Amino acid sequence: MSSLSTRHLIGIKNITEADIQLIFETADNFKELINRPIKKVPSLRDITVANIFFESSTRTRVSFELAEKRLSADTVNFAASSSSVSKGETLLDTVNNILAMKVDMVVMRHPAPGACVYLADRIPANVVNAGDGTHEHPTQALLDAFSIREQLGDLAGKKIAIIGDILHSRVALSNVFCLLKLGAKVRVCGPPTLIPKYYGDLGVEVSHDIMDTLRWCDVANVLRIQLERQDIKYFPSLREYHQYYGVTKSMLESLDKEIVVMHPGPINRGVEISSDAADSKQSIILQQVENGVAVRMAVLYLLASKG
Ligand code: CP
Repeated sequence: MSSLSTRHLIGIKNITEADIQLIFETADNFKELINRPIKKVPSLRDITVANIFFESSTRTRVSFELAEKRLSADTVNFAASSSSVSKGETLLDTVNNILAMKVDMVVMRHPAPGACVYLADRIPANVVNAGDGTHEHPTQALLDAFSIREQLGDLAGKKIAIIGDILHSRVALSNVFCLLKLGAKVRVCGPPTLIPKYYGDLGVEVSHDIMDTLRWCDVANVLRIQLERQDIKYFPSLREYHQYYGVTKSMLESLDKEIVVMHPGPINRGVEISSDAADSKQSIILQQVENGVAVRMAVLYLLASKG
């Protein structure tokens, strides 16, 4: 198979294992390319991509823009805070006005779950979800799984723990879909208030015991507490959250094996993870960021070939 089963990337739920493997194989080639002195290829020379961000981002926005530039695409960046959205323009009107300027692909981050599929159903351009509210963040899950594969090989049978604020996390849901499709065993861990009940039906284990989870897993993907999405209190204080669910270097050193430590960023140092754990030699946090460019190049390249 040499083409994706879809012309949009809305979520990992909607793509196949073969799609994921094709993205990884394509990203392997792009990773090799971007480590050469000449990092650019002409693959998307005739393509214009609009990066439309209605929410803050550092890694995803910069990484998509670099991926587009490495593929020789023309790019335009749109930040909602400085646009006519603040004057009341709708999402669809805004995007249709951008598309009128001959844009082929839209990479969008939006606070509303479902905003990307809403758009994909209504516009002719390819749509890539760069994070829609608490729903999915598919390219983050792809780069996370790609990074695990780089460390441990085939993911089938590997034990991956996702620890932290599962309730508000689009990264958690996309990771669960991606890891299960690749045959990994997945456990989510956090306080009962931060794990939605439906996770028990997704085919993952649910735990509230951080030490037992660290002893169980090969990889711990630690997630941020998303205070900006929390309208009520889910735990007494950040200090207590760290005391009961924070990952520290001394916890990692107490294990009888060396596990891989990941975090999608941004990190709240001293809350979900201590600085000495985030900066430890077991941490691959910056490799995740590096792999984000190659994985997003692969996604854009493969979607562009679907037209
Ligand atoms: N991981 C991630 O999505 O980071 P940003 O919010 O900085 O893009």
